[in-house]
Amino acid sequence: MQRLGILLSGRGSNFLAIAEAIHEGRLPGAEIAVVLSNLTDAAGLEAARQLGLPAIAIPSAGRKRAEHDAEMIATLRAHRVDLVCLAGYMRIISPEFVRAFPNRILNIHPALLPAFPGLDAQTQALEFGAKVAGCTVHFVDEAVDHGAIILQRVVPVLDDDTAESLSARILEQEHIAYPEAIARVLSGEYCLVGRRYVRHGKQ
Ligand code: GRF
Repeated sequence: MQRLGILLSGRGSNFLAIAEAIHEGRLPGAEIAVVLSNLTDAAGLEAARQLGLPAIAIPSAGRKRAEHDAEMIATLRAHRVDLVCLAGYMRIISPEFVRAFPNRILNIHPALLPAFPGLDAQTQALEFGAKVAGCTVHFVDEAVDHGAIILQRVVPVLDDDTAESLSARILEQEHIAYPEAIARVLSGEYCLVGRRYVRHGKQ
């Protein structure tokens, strides 16, 4: 079994999409070992508990990043996590955290990176006047929203879109993209050529 550790700070819809993919047999050999949040009241933690999964809050408020991350790393190790999935985890992770799980941390971002990194990516795309938007699942490196891209899914930006309507259209694709990217990484059938994620047999 390959053990996933999910990190979230909010509602946890991507976490639930991953849990559903496991339940439906779309991520064979994977299980969720633990769900962690830096916010005690994250709705995703409660959702995890309702699914009977270990769900732990490690509050970050007022704590030094290095100290908080050390506790996160120790908890992930205690749960023998193989792959860390950031799913709406609204806290920058330290270089030490990245190095603790080399090429074993994934993130999902609601934009077509490298466009619109950082906060409010959907609003950034809308205000810039982009005609397509989407989501990116990527490996996490030491820079924000920057590591090698595993896959992207694209949606149109419509003339009458609001940040809410565009976010909802992107979110639907996030829920497809994240389980698919995890399946690809867990299969091990890829290599990294510089920044490029290349699937075996697909060149
Ligand atoms: C998603 O839009 C994700 O791309 C971003 O944060 C949001 C989390 O949503 N990183 P949810 O908590 O998974 O519903």
